[in-house]
Amino acid sequence: MKIVVTAGPTREHLDPVRFLSNPSTGRMGFAVARAAARRGHDVTLVTGPVAANLRVPVGVMRVDVVSAREMYAAVRTAVQGADALIATAAVADWRPAVCAVCKLKKTAMSGVLKLVRNPDILKKVNVPLKVGFAAETNDVLDEASRKCREKGLAFIVANDVTQKGCGFGTATNRVTFVFPEGRQVALPMMSKQCVAQRIVRQLEQIKKSQGKPLASER
Ligand code: PMT
Repeated sequence: MKIVVTAGPTREHLDPVRFLSNPSTGRMGFAVARAAARRGHDVTLVTGPVAANLRVPVGVMRVDVVSAREMYAAVRTAVQGADALIATAAVADWRPAVCAVCKLKKTAMSGVLKLVRNPDILKKVNVPLKVGFAAETNDVLDEASRKCREKGLAFIVANDVTQKGCGFGTATNRVTFVFPEGRQVALPMMSKQCVAQRIVRQLEQIKKSQGKPLASER
């Protein structure tokens, strides 16, 4: 399969030295890209700003972006002819309405920041199979289920980021796969690499059960 993976945070700048973001490190997304490449898939990894020591997995094409709008543009290009998108990125839903060209002076700031919505990349892009992630702090499975249906996903990977060893920056994760018809598969705590393998295998099973040709065969 040709698979596009998103990873890491996005940064939404209000001036050249300040931005809104979140604690995603890209570990989950890089693990998914690695797992998919090891299974022989053709993988493009679109990543927000992550630590330099996070190595691009062998055989994976990496595209670096900063903001949600840049990620959207890169994903739209990468999904041309793709079979699947696996969206692990923690994309900022909002950005400052204005990004100043020069560093804002404290005295020039009013204390109120006007925000505008970013595009929902996963919802908007057109690709046969879409897999999402949901990082939640409450009503985890209900929220994941809602996102799965609203974004037209094959399944969503729910993680409760209040649990120890789960979510942002950890080497491990405990996730539940939530399917559009309501079925749930809870996995035990395991390394992010093992979670990634389970996601890729689940995607392969869904693809096989559909019996449709791969993008490369169409
Ligand atoms: O990077 P790590 O430190 O390893 O951490 C991993 C993780 C916690 C970031 C990851 O496991 C995770 O849960 N990612 C999703 C984070 C999230 O909160 O997603 P969301 O509920 O805002 O969005 C749901 C889905 O839509 C996600 O697949 C997201 O990539 C996608 N989305 C969201 C908003 C947006 N504007 N565009 C999107 O594509």
